Amino acid sequence: MRSFSKCVIIKNRAKKSNVIFILTPKGKIYMENTAPEKRQKILSCIQPSGIPTLGNYLGALKNWKTLSDDFDSAFAVADLHAITVRQDPAKFRKQITEVFALLLAIGLDPEKSIIFIQSHVPAHSQLAWILNCYTQFGEMSRMTQFKDKSKAHADNVNVGLFAYPVLMAADILLYQADLVPVGVDQKQHLEIARDIANRFNTVYSPTFTIPDAYIGKQGAKIMSLQDPTKKMSKSDPNPKSYVSVFDTPEVITKKIKSAITDCEGSVYYGEGKDGINNLMSIYSCCTGLDFDQIAKDFEGKGYGDFKAAVAEAVVEELRPVRERYDSYMKDTGYLLEVAAKGAEKASRIANRTLNKVMKKVGFVLPK
Ligand code: TYM
Repeated sequence: MRSFSKCVIIKNRAKKSNVIFILTPKGKIYMENTAPEKRQKILSCIQPSGIPTLGNYLGALKNWKTLSDDFDSAFAVADLHAITVRQDPAKFRKQITEVFALLLAIGLDPEKSIIFIQSHVPAHSQLAWILNCYTQFGEMSRMTQFKDKSKAHADNVNVGLFAYPVLMAADILLYQADLVPVGVDQKQHLEIARDIANRFNTVYSPTFTIPDAYIGKQGAKIMSLQDPTKKMSKSDPNPKSYVSVFDTPEVITKKIKSAITDCEGSVYYGEGKDGINNLMSIYSCCTGLDFDQIAKDFEGKGYGDFKAAVAEAVVEELRPVRERYDSYMKDTGYLLEVAAKGAEKASRIANRTLNKVMKKVGFVLPK
């Protein structure tokens, strides 16, 4: 062990290595150049099943952008997942393009991150089939989202809905993701992906990286504005319950001002104050202020003032996203080009994992 008075580590992002400066007690400076560090990988996806909400944005998309600076990253529009409920073909096509444009509008850079449409990379469906055969019926039956969705779509409880978490496991495992940034509602799906990966690795030999969920400290579960005990969801029949990322400033303000709160009238985070807690989480995500600071800033002020501040913060948070989105949507040809390049890069990685899996299982690979 070497003794030193001071140690400074400077990251060389370009070379993915660290330069370490060490000041010894005798005042000498040593410099060490460490081997390139292995960048960790992240992957996440969003379904194009409607216009994404403020919940999707604060719980997932905003973190994707932040994390994409420090990780090798891949992000996809999960169109295969979306057909587990019936989609109108023309509307569906439009939504896929819109959500793809949104991924660019939140600031993801296609030169730094792989941004693609799930169905453009056939390895997702192929690995999902194989993993279906390493997943138990009982495990899938316990998934809470399956139970909820089967109730909501009782006339169409299809096998795809049942096997949905296996496709999600395939999405993650194909890219050997270390971290998966998601909202709290996806935690159970992440756990099953880990179980499937561990099982496959045990039956054969280490094949898949075991992924961890990355759940942000704030905003991991943004609640409905009309029933703050329920998650904010784009499939909620009451549009006043959610803010969509493309709502106009006027609509955002109106929806936030009509959010359900309580009759106490003071702004602090506490039990039984679900509506205010939710607005505080939203405000905190948009401003970076913690709950104590927010409570201090609004001491002696009523909910009217607080709601107006939350509305303004949300409008300003979404304004640049919306502006960039509008400009991307003017050139759908460019979006398709970016998607094609993304799919090519994604396929290279995904096929490498798929081939490895197929060899281990004993398939004869084509020449
Ligand atoms: P989806 O499309 O429902 O939602 C996309 C992301 O948004 C998060 N989210 C929320 N976060 C906070 N508060 C909310 N109210 C809220 N609503 C949604 C979700 O947790 C998610 O991170 N199955 C996934 C899509 C998927 C996926 C994957 C995700 C497919 N393959 C692989 C990660 C890795 C889904 O339906 O997300």
